Amino acid sequence: MKRSTLILLKTLTWLGCLWPFLLLVYGAFTNTLGADPTSKITLTTGYTALLLLIISLAVTPVRRLIPQLSWLIKFRRLLGLFAFFYGSLHLMTWVALYTAFDLHAMADDIVKRRFITMGMLTWLLLLPLAATSTNWSIRKLGGKRWNRLHKLVYLAAVCGIIHYWWQVKPGVLSPLRLTVVLGILLLVRPVLAFAQRRKARTVTVRSA
Ligand code: HEM
Repeated sequence: MKRSTLILLKTLTWLGCLWPFLLLVYGAFTNTLGADPTSKITLTTGYTALLLLIISLAVTPVRRLIPQLSWLIKFRRLLGLFAFFYGSLHLMTWVALYTAFDLHAMADDIVKRRFITMGMLTWLLLLPLAATSTNWSIRKLGGKRWNRLHKLVYLAAVCGIIHYWWQVKPGVLSPLRLTVVLGILLLVRPVLAFAQRRKARTVTVRSA
């Protein structure tokens, strides 16, 4: 891919990822966040975090299925870091606007409301991934250990989906779409790995 195309695509990705945040900032300044701005901010940041996390998980299977799109790998870290950014904004909204920085209220919420417990777990799983996202960390940890650690992203996505389901009212199916997409991504991984191993074995047998 040409360098200018890559720069253009990266700029568009930055803009796309920042868009929900910019809309929230605009809404806050113009007082157009609706009847319940706290909920609007929490729902937007939470949904965007989960959406970006799942899009980042789609990068590897898409690259394997369509080798012409291998360059997508250059966008995975950016998507993952933006997922963490929105997850952290989401957390800060809860800390500031739901609990008013009251440590007792926070602890109470975490212990008593299972969807908050699961949200916290999701964020804690994303934290080491964001902290080790630099090239320096990859070198320091070594590729194998880094890869093993970053498998946590699948667990984080599953916890994020559970948090989503536990947060909606009974009978509300809004988390279904992301659940189906994540389910497909989780199923496709072992299938593609199996197909790759079979292909490698066939090539070895043929060349023997
Ligand atoms: C860090 C701890 C977390 C806390 C305390 C927390 C808290 C909340 C709260 C209070 C809501 C409901 C908002 C409302 O009904 O007005 C919510 C919704 C949601 N959260 Fe979290 N959350 C956390 C982490 C996360 C993370 C890390 C993700 C994603 C990776 C996430 C994804 C979502 C989603 C998708 C929704 C529903 C959005 C919608 O209905 O459109 N949360 N969370």
